[in-house]
Amino acid sequence: MLLFCWNIKDVKRYIVGRLPAVCIGLCIALSSLAAEPVPVASPHSNWVPLAQDGLHDPSNPRLDLLQNPAEALSLLPPDLEGNERSSVVGNRVKWVKALREGYINPRTNIYPETKIKVLDLDVMLTKRDTGELPRVLFPHKQHTEWLDCSNCHEWLFKSKTGATPISMFAILDGEYCGRCHGAVAFPLTQCQRCHSVPFAAQAPAKAQ
Ligand code: HEC
Ligand code: HEC
Ligand code: HEC
Repeated sequence: MLLFCWNIKDVKRYIVGRLPAVCIGLCIALSSLAAEPVPVASPHSNWVPLAQDGLHDPSNPRLDLLQNPAEALSLLPPDLEGNERSSVVGNRVKWVKALREGYINPRTNIYPETKIKVLDLDVMLTKRDTGELPRVLFPHKQHTEWLDCSNCHEWLFKSKTGATPISMFAILDGEYCGRCHGAVAFPLTQCQRCHSVPFAAQAPAKAQ
């Protein structure tokens, strides 16, 4: 691969040089997605019945023993956030809300001796001035209600703010937050759910 012939400086210059292009590209991609007619037939159009999902054997006579996704998911708080296209991705459930408001009550442990630790700690991931782009606040609480510390620490993220070299490139490539977001958690097209804190709100007030 080409990258192997480069030294670190060249790689950094390559990435930094392309950041503005990526941002502009993402913005254009998102706005053109929003402008395109979106194929939303009904609110349930992306809850494919098990017999048609390409995973279950439709000829299995006992497929009726399993619950179809629409039957269960339509009862939970809907996730219709973001642009219209992003509202048709994922399973369209606001899972954090479903948990908070008691729609679901998942079993926390199989073995009684397993300790559950919920950590209520928000981490501001963006340090620098990002101008118009809101900063990323990582909430531990909403994650540790579902996940164990070892799902992320120390292999994916260091237990020290700013110690992990997270970048949007890597995330879009399925690394860091992208290991789950876009796979089992809300998708990467919902920028504002991670980029949630306006830079101005954090900056020190200007002298009058
Ligand atoms: C979904 C992934 C995830 C899970 C699960 C998770 N963390 Fe974290 N944690 C992070 C990220 C991301 C950071 C910020 C890392 C960075 O900035 O380099 C962080 C940072 C931390 C920090 C440093 C905070 C600071 O102020 O410097 C501590 C301490 C920590 N985590 C403890 C825990 C503990 C204890 C648990 C389990 C109860 C846990 N984390 C579960 C992702 C996670
Ligand atoms: C190990 C899997 C995993 C990783 C890694 C992960 N998340 Fe999550 N995240 C989840 C799950 C599961 C939820 C809850 C389901 C949902 O909201 O889609 C969630 C929810 C959230 C929420 C929503 C909280 C709410 O109130 O609705 C935010 C914000 C978030 N994650 C940001 C991040 C950021 C930023 C990173 C990377 C630093 C990250 N996550 C990494 C699994 C993960
Ligand atoms: C799952 C959470 C998450 C989502 C969704 C997300 N981002 Fe990010 N983004 C991050 C994290 C974490 C960083 C790295 C920390 C930082 O520098 O802010 C980041 C960094 C960035 C950066 C700074 C450059 C870089 O590589 O560090 C840009 C620009 C950016 N994101 C744009 C976007 C856009 C546009 C979207 C929507 C298409 C988006 N992000 C969606 C979590 C997310």
